[in-house]
Amino acid sequence: MSRNTKSREIGSNQLGVHEKLHSLVERYKSTQFARPISEHTQRAFDEVLPWLTQGSSELILDACCGVGQSTVTLAKQFPSAKVLGVDKSVHRLEKHHAYEAEACNYQLLRADLNDFWRLLAQHNIVFTKHYILYPNPYPKATQIQKRWYASAIMPYLMQLSPCLELRSNWKLYLEEFAIAAQSYGFDGTVVNIGPHVEPLTPFEKKYIQSNQTCYQLILEKRYD
Ligand SMILES: C[S@@+](CC[C@H](N)C(=O)[O-])C[C@H]1O[C@@H](n2cnc3c(N)ncnc32)[C@H](O)[C@@H]1O
Repeated sequence: MSRNTKSREIGSNQLGVHEKLHSLVERYKSTQFARPISEHTQRAFDEVLPWLTQGSSELILDACCGVGQSTVTLAKQFPSAKVLGVDKSVHRLEKHHAYEAEACNYQLLRADLNDFWRLLAQHNIVFTKHYILYPNPYPKATQIQKRWYASAIMPYLMQLSPCLELRSNWKLYLEEFAIAAQSYGFDGTVVNIGPHVEPLTPFEKKYIQSNQTCYQLILEKRYD
């Protein structure tokens, strides 16, 4: 039976940059994220740490990897790097077998990024590139503090790499991320990735097949 893969355009009652964005970004820039690290994420981190730190390969982080299709693609694209895909959903990670590759330079891990990013930052682990592809956008105006750039995790996630690539079908999410990232010394512009790209993830494929526009934001650290 063929499944209907059409997906609806993202809807939001927020039409422009949130009026609280600036104050939230400034507040969380200098706030400690006090919530204790969850046990399962601590365990996952302890298990993957030797793989991450042994040797001198470049590291790439695929945060919110879902089923890990993008993790495999990145591992093939950067064969001398180690690519780590992280997602909190067992359900999605269990579907990885459909995308599995012989490439041995990647791992998938089940962890909560709100904890995992903090552990990486505490251990000064630096990635050449940090991908966040189609994160949950939380589009209602009242959900602003659920968006990572307007929450206490932002200072930790921004210290993990001098280069981030984000993608979303909600342009405003990326525009707000770019504004927040400026406060951390990063510059980047939101661009339309166009309908003819080879989809990097299942969500991207679904959005493109539904004639939705997908956007990309590449953030680079300013050295001035
Ligand atoms: C919209 S899906 C995108 C998945 C994949 N990147 C793709 O494009 O197909 C968002 C993913 O983010 C993951 N996610 C959301 N919050 C998370 C968190 N705090 N820690 C880890 N993963 C999270 C979800 O489990 C889900 O797989």
